[in-house]
Amino acid sequence: MIETKPIDGKAFAAGLRARVAEEVAHLAATAGLKPGLAVVLVGEDAASQVYVRNKAEQTAEAGMASFEHKLPVDTGEGELLALVARLNADPQVHGILVQLPLPAHIDATKVLAAIDPAKDVDGFHVVNAGRLAVGLDALVPCTPLGCILLLKHHLGSLAGLKAVVVGRSNIVGKPAAQLLLKEDCTVTIAHSRTRDLPGECREADILIAAVGRPEMVRGDWIKPGATVIDVGINRVPKADGKTRLVGDVAYAEAQGIAGLITPVPGGVGPMTIACLLQNTLTAAKRQAGLG
Ligand code: GUN
Repeated sequence: MIETKPIDGKAFAAGLRARVAEEVAHLAATAGLKPGLAVVLVGEDAASQVYVRNKAEQTAEAGMASFEHKLPVDTGEGELLALVARLNADPQVHGILVQLPLPAHIDATKVLAAIDPAKDVDGFHVVNAGRLAVGLDALVPCTPLGCILLLKHHLGSLAGLKAVVVGRSNIVGKPAAQLLLKEDCTVTIAHSRTRDLPGECREADILIAAVGRPEMVRGDWIKPGATVIDVGINRVPKADGKTRLVGDVAYAEAQGIAGLITPVPGGVGPMTIACLLQNTLTAAKRQAGLG
């Protein structure tokens, strides 16, 4: 029987935030530079409001400037594009994040394309996606970056390992696959049309689940001893009418099969904002000619 160990993303993220804060203090002392992050939220989406509040708090805790722009749900696309243009031109703003999802009347692709790639701390701009794909320095999407940092911390070199990423989104699946390839993994991207998804998953030394379906990946899809990274955050109803958070992996079933697994909550989730702070620091240094 394999002893399955949980990966403590909460503790690792706290360490990463502390390292970022230390470097921010050093930058202030030596170069008089204070990294600034602007977060734009359109509308009242409840989950987005929680994320944005956490981002603002943790940005301030790291010693960075936080600029919040909360706009009403009926904000026009032109108005949002004008705000992005102002933030692009603002020297105090080194990172710009437009919270997704945007209301349906706004073309998200157009808005993301309007962000200066040098300030694109989400790494969603096609310039950053392209730079990552061809192996140039890029701002990398925060959630997949968090996954890779956890993997490297626990496994050391990933070279030669077989990695299966379930999910092909631009936000997680595709950039995660690019990052694994950069680490010399053999990478498969699986998705809803994959034939024999359980069989593909069973080949994986590293299994990343990023599909947004509660507990879709079953215990018997996991190769014994594999490292499982669960990106899913799904709210499901409980018998008492309340809700609980579950991942994309059936966590209880993975016990005794996986070698390492990220829990939900407390695994990948806390890494996302920590990586956002790191990206903001990186962007600020590059814009100041220091990085
Ligand atoms: N909505 C949920 N997660 C994210 C994220 O990482 N970035 C942005 N911009 N929106 C999100």
